[in-house]
Amino acid sequence: MRKNIVAGNWKMNCDLPQTRSLIIDLKKGLEKGFNCELMIAPSHPFLYQAFNSTSDTIIEVVAQNVCEAQKGAYTGEVSVDMLDSVGIKTIIIGHSERRDIYGETDELLAAKTKTALEKGMRVIFCCGEHLEQRQAGKHFETVTQQIEKGLFGFTTEQMERVIVAYEPVWAIGTGETASPEQAQEMHAHLRSFIASKFGEETANNTSILYGGSVKPSNAAEIFAKPDVDGGLVGGASLDAQSFLDIA
Ligand code: 13P
Repeated sequence: MRKNIVAGNWKMNCDLPQTRSLIIDLKKGLEKGFNCELMIAPSHPFLYQAFNSTSDTIIEVVAQNVCEAQKGAYTGEVSVDMLDSVGIKTIIIGHSERRDIYGETDELLAAKTKTALEKGMRVIFCCGEHLEQRQAGKHFETVTQQIEKGLFGFTTEQMERVIVAYEPVWAIGTGETASPEQAQEMHAHLRSFIASKFGEETANNTSILYGGSVKPSNAAEIFAKPDVDGGLVGGASLDAQSFLDIA
């Protein structure tokens, strides 16, 4: 079933005391109830703490990254078994910061996604074009290729555990947001592309989130679009009130 989801990607922000206090603030605001799933993605060292302190709430703690390999000599990496052992059930893969800063290729991202899906995890798989690609009219092609290379090797059953996040790179952390129409147009394109491989039912069950300068002031009109099923929120998720207002 397609779900509405608001996920906070904390990126490399918040040390332990800050993680604790942001979670305390979030928990204070949960009473009013939400008609969406709520996820937060703190940094790896604090996942265990975050998982334990939210286990009595509707907040799901998710990871920002995972290693494609199972275990062994991969200094600095974190395996899917490690994440599983601290209660993590969902992993963000393919964020543009991983692609652009750390050179993660489509092939590597497909391998990471495979590792996560084979463990039974859910994946939030990110895609999105750069400004030059949009200006050259190549935004559909760019995103289509990312999805094809990243996800089309999986079974329909595995694809049912994938959440797609469309994050135009030019809108991330820039204050510039895709218009609701631009978001809808791309989300509809993504859904029909997913349908071409996995069928209408799976495509209709796939949550497609928008990311890129989502704020309380613009979330409602973006999320109102029929193919936008929520958001992957960066900066605004670091403030409990604004994250909850978005949700
Ligand atoms: P901002 O909301 O800060 O633009 O970040 C979006 C993002 O990259 C979420 O993954």
